[in-house]
Amino acid sequence: MANVKFFGGSNMPLEMHKVRIIQKLNLPTIDRRLEAITEAGNNTFLLKNRDVFLDMLTDSGTNAMSDRQLAAMMTADDSYAGSETFFRLEAKLQDVFGMKHFLPAHQGRACESLVSQVLITEPDMIVPMNYHFTTAKAHISRMGARVEEIIIDEGLVAKSELNFKGNINPVTLQKMLKDNEGKIAFVRLEAGTNLIGGQPISMANIKEVSQICRVAGVWLVFDASLLADNLYFIKTKEEAYKNIEIKNIMREIGQLADVIYFSARKLGCARGGGICLNSDELMFKFRELIPLYEGFLTYGGMSVREMEALTVGLEETCDIDMIAQAPQFIGHMVDKFTALSIPVVTPAGGLGCHLNASEFLSHIPQERYTAGALAAALYIVSGVRGMERGTLSEQRNPDGSEPLAHMELVRLALPRRVFTLSQVEYVLDRVNWLYQNRELIGGLKFVEEPKILRFFFGRLAPDSDWQSKLVAKFKADFGDSL
Ligand SMILES: Cc1ncc(COP(=O)(O)O)c(C=O)c1O
Repeated sequence: MANVKFFGGSNMPLEMHKVRIIQKLNLPTIDRRLEAITEAGNNTFLLKNRDVFLDMLTDSGTNAMSDRQLAAMMTADDSYAGSETFFRLEAKLQDVFGMKHFLPAHQGRACESLVSQVLITEPDMIVPMNYHFTTAKAHISRMGARVEEIIIDEGLVAKSELNFKGNINPVTLQKMLKDNEGKIAFVRLEAGTNLIGGQPISMANIKEVSQICRVAGVWLVFDASLLADNLYFIKTKEEAYKNIEIKNIMREIGQLADVIYFSARKLGCARGGGICLNSDELMFKFRELIPLYEGFLTYGGMSVREMEALTVGLEETCDIDMIAQAPQFIGHMVDKFTALSIPVVTPAGGLGCHLNASEFLSHIPQERYTAGALAAALYIVSGVRGMERGTLSEQRNPDGSEPLAHMELVRLALPRRVFTLSQVEYVLDRVNWLYQNRELIGGLKFVEEPKILRFFFGRLAPDSDWQSKLVAKFKADFGDSL
């Protein structure tokens, strides 16, 4: 983010950190990679890390930590109740979001479970939101409520120039609240929309949604898991916030939401999660559930070491150099793919670079899991582990039919400060080769399909011998190269 111009005129991201601890990587042969993806049931979640070269599955719990975070871990106060570590974290969260209460939880989905249990008071309630996240939807559905996605139309258009594609459509929201009085459990606003390309929401939209919710007397719940990247976009793309400090933007979000929850595997580059809020009434309701599901109120399932790292990580999230790294690398990948005419979600968002599998593999229908097939093929030809974000990530309808996803994406996540530019260049190269050979790729079919969150551990098989043909072509083109 430093203001550095290159003499040669190139527009390259420049890291404002240096690497001080490294982990050796292994790139298995293509024969082993084919074996490994077969053993994993063509599901990249089931690959063993020893078979993975660049792990671009997720940023969840995989961000690089800073020297200050590691040092803070050594100061952790290890006690079941009343730990100093908790009070340091609580004070930091009160400072960044300006909210009165903080309740710890073991990770983001635990917060989603608690929010759903407390706020969904009757079956058949509705939860309007910009877009769902897998576990958020699963918890809401489990409580008998229904998710309604009211993202702006452009949010589901893969190729666009609109800066804040994660925004809620305020007109639809207002109408939905009016038409369903008494049936709205809460409104959920997700920063950096995970499933549709990491697209951010604008402060203007957060303000408008907040006002609509307050007039209607409905709780606004803000999922801040992907807030770091979203803050970068607010700061760099929203004119009114160019000169506002990041900490003050976070404070303002704290004033606009009623409940903020987050996965600390993402926000704060540690592991854990928590809920921030002002309402005493809600706090008492949440508080009853924490010792039941998470742990005592001063750790909530987190290790005290991770809590110390989180406290520092939240402070570092207010540093533009830190939050700029991932979006700038993603922007670099998106620009290069676009120059090669390889379909990706634009504009570049946070979290990762998203290949648009529907266009990449236009010959594979969604019923054959277009994005899942692309993720498996990419692993075979590169050892790069991406994540399917498409129909596989949806849950089958009660009548057994397939709910086809709005988008078929393969996410190449950029955990913060983990990969180098030459590794990114390798990914660009192998994806480019795959694109030139895309006709060789076929579809997938389920051989083992779990009922809930099937993408995590479902097993699939190729619908023909396309994988061995892909391997043969790779060998013909690359010879003995890995
Ligand atoms: C937007 C969002 N919300 C919630 C979660 C769940 O967090 P966790 O993985 O810590 O349970 C995630 C995780 O990817 C996420 O991206």
